[in-house]
Amino acid sequence: MTEPVITEKTVAPAPTEAVVRIEGLHKSFDGRLVLDDVHLEVGRGRIVSVIGQSGGGKTTLMRCVNLLERPDRGTVEVAGEVVHSGGRTVCRDLPRLRRTVGMVFQRFHLFPHLTAVENVVLAQRRAGVPEQEALERAVALLRRVGVAHRGLAQPEQLSGGEQQRVAIARALALRPEVLLFDEPTSSLDPEATREVLAVMRELAADGMTMMLVTHELPFAREVSDHVVFVDGGRIVEEGAPRDVLDNPAQARTREFLSSYGSPS
Ligand SMILES: Nc1ncnc2c1ncn2[C@@H]1O[C@H](COP(=O)(O)OP(=O)(O)OP(=O)(O)O)[C@@H](O)[C@H]1O
Ligand SMILES: [Mg+2]
Repeated sequence: MTEPVITEKTVAPAPTEAVVRIEGLHKSFDGRLVLDDVHLEVGRGRIVSVIGQSGGGKTTLMRCVNLLERPDRGTVEVAGEVVHSGGRTVCRDLPRLRRTVGMVFQRFHLFPHLTAVENVVLAQRRAGVPEQEALERAVALLRRVGVAHRGLAQPEQLSGGEQQRVAIARALALRPEVLLFDEPTSSLDPEATREVLAVMRELAADGMTMMLVTHELPFAREVSDHVVFVDGGRIVEEGAPRDVLDNPAQARTREFLSSYGSPS
């Protein structure tokens, strides 16, 4: 009997396990459709960037992943589990979902009356992590994002870049399987933006799965495996960064990029 010839073509690449899978997502506010049949997948260890104009539905899309927003239709699957389907929440353990899906917001959302360390400890305490372990993890994470020396400061005593790095440490503290970043540098000056992007670059290099809404197109080009251009609630174009950002197929994408002085 002849052995089958194994060539590159007959050996299929190992499929990447999806950490987030969105199918046929629809969402309306007050009868106005803001997400219109969105399909999206974020594989483990992958970085997907979502770009697009204000009001296009980027934040709503992110918020549907951890069910801060409930979709009207479609399916949301996180870490292999359907959490929302056909307009109904299937997930029975929302706190666990929120631990699996970490989120970093544009405006940090730290607790103002707590120190940096306490901000990182609090979420862990709520998740049942023993106090000493939570404290050690908080200090280690603050060190990792370069703000351990500011651990005893309260948010108002921290710069925007420092606050955002504390917020990243807090999101990491629950050991999420995916991190969502919604315009994490939009309220920061260029120097702080560089600091935060450096932390995110390290997370990317460490293999963190990320979904990112950003206007930092050079950064998106550098770190993303996949770029998604959303406009009017629909995915207009998606693909490898060099295709979408440097050689877009759709006129609408070109128009959007030209507002940045690109494609470049
Ligand atoms: N809770 C809400 N109630 C009513 N309308 C909403 C709500 N949240 C968002 N919208 C509307 O849905 C649309 C999409 O909003 P979304 O915040 O997702 O856009 P975006 O792409 O994130 O915009 P930006 O770049 O300005 O952050 C907008 O028209 C917005 O006004
Ligand atoms: Mg937004």
